Amino acid sequence: MTRSQSESDTQAPAKLWGGRFEGNTDAFVESFTASVTFDQRMYRQDIQGSKAHATMLMEVGVLTEEDHAQILEGLSDIENTIAEGRFEWSVAREDVHMNIEAALIDRIGDAGKRLHTGRSRNDQVATDIRLYVRDACDEIAAEQKRLLKGLVQLASQHTDTIMPGFTHLQTAQPVTFGHHVMAWFEMLLRDLERLEDIRRRVNRMPLGSAALAGTSYPIDRSITMRLLGFDAIAENSLDAVSDRDFAIDFTAAAAITLMHLSRIAEEMVLWMSAQFQFVDLPDAFCTGSSIMPQKKNPDVAELVRGKTGRANGNLMALLTLMKGQPLTYNKDNQEDKEPLFDSIDTWMFSARAFADMLPAMHVNKAAMREAAIKGFSTATDLADWLVKQGMPFRDAHEVVGKAVKHGVDNQIDLGDMSLETLQGFSDKINASVFDVLTLEGSVNSRDHIGGTAPNQVKQAVAKADGRLNAIYATVS
Ligand code: ARG
Repeated sequence: MTRSQSESDTQAPAKLWGGRFEGNTDAFVESFTASVTFDQRMYRQDIQGSKAHATMLMEVGVLTEEDHAQILEGLSDIENTIAEGRFEWSVAREDVHMNIEAALIDRIGDAGKRLHTGRSRNDQVATDIRLYVRDACDEIAAEQKRLLKGLVQLASQHTDTIMPGFTHLQTAQPVTFGHHVMAWFEMLLRDLERLEDIRRRVNRMPLGSAALAGTSYPIDRSITMRLLGFDAIAENSLDAVSDRDFAIDFTAAAAITLMHLSRIAEEMVLWMSAQFQFVDLPDAFCTGSSIMPQKKNPDVAELVRGKTGRANGNLMALLTLMKGQPLTYNKDNQEDKEPLFDSIDTWMFSARAFADMLPAMHVNKAAMREAAIKGFSTATDLADWLVKQGMPFRDAHEVVGKAVKHGVDNQIDLGDMSLETLQGFSDKINASVFDVLTLEGSVNSRDHIGGTAPNQVKQAVAKADGRLNAIYATVS
């Protein structure tokens, strides 16, 4: 019995690479080696790449116009069928590429069999993933920008809102909440810059590299490059089919972004607590406890904080996947997709959650102010004031330290001490010291680029939109 007879007997779909095989693939091996369950999400990119390849083949005279027309029509039809959820994905057909190619052959016969001329799944898959990551970068950039705009909006409402600034999570100096929010803005703006940088490096075209060495057909890669919107052609076929450093770039940037989001998340969780009460997150972003009726938990913030774990894991997975792989394509590379897709989703959904949630938070100005008053947050201001009266800084530090000790022992803040009490620590002190011991005096005095003075925060907010528009300018 020949192989094709046995296949028609069992109704198993023929393998597109089945020619040199006599035995059937083991059923377990078939599902173990298949990627269709997770790479089908690249179907649009796969079809886009195939159409461009077919058009190029037609333009250089390898495909007839008639074959080309049938291929394009067949692929469009398949795309619609998939989009409508009517396509039957087959594990026996291994991956998204062979599912679509086989479906095309089912539909249009010989013309479909000509599509793979001068191409391999190796350059095909490398092209598909790059197109996919490129699209993902654009979508995430839009979400990241929405988040950043929300932060600017929030900051603009709180340029004068005073809260304690922390180091070691101990009250350090008063800052404005607007300044704090603009710190988040800076962190997440750099993440957007990284995304733009990744997109630039992703947008180079492997197609035309074929299996590894190129192809003997008279292909014109500039045609496919143009059709697919790539900025450049990958210069070395061996490299182009095998490297996945762009996926590592992406997961690294995702891990950094999630690290940033987790820091903001941690502040949300902390600030929502009864001990801080700096903010209240809207009910829509919180959940209750099944046992403790009083609970309102900041689940979305906690979940984003928790997702840092998978973002880091995905980066480690890809770094380890690529380590030690000899040129060129190895089946190992099929393992690139799940971590990559997971990082794409994680970044996308976390940015979306925060873009919705952060601007909607209620800010408890009174609690912030009260916390800033407590904890001797203007102690540095007193020391600086003494220095301006001519005292060496180290001596001023000592004097203020004594004043703080007195405040701790007697439960009184610096600004609430009488002039006589303060003069007991240094005879240089006079009534004008109270100007800097107030919270407003303290923040207003830090009036330079990057400082917390409301005046500076207003300027930072005013500049923010322009800076945001300059990065990833293709997305608004
Ligand atoms: N599903 C494969 C992957 O994701 C496609 C490329 C297969 N190439 C090959 N020579 N087996 O990597």
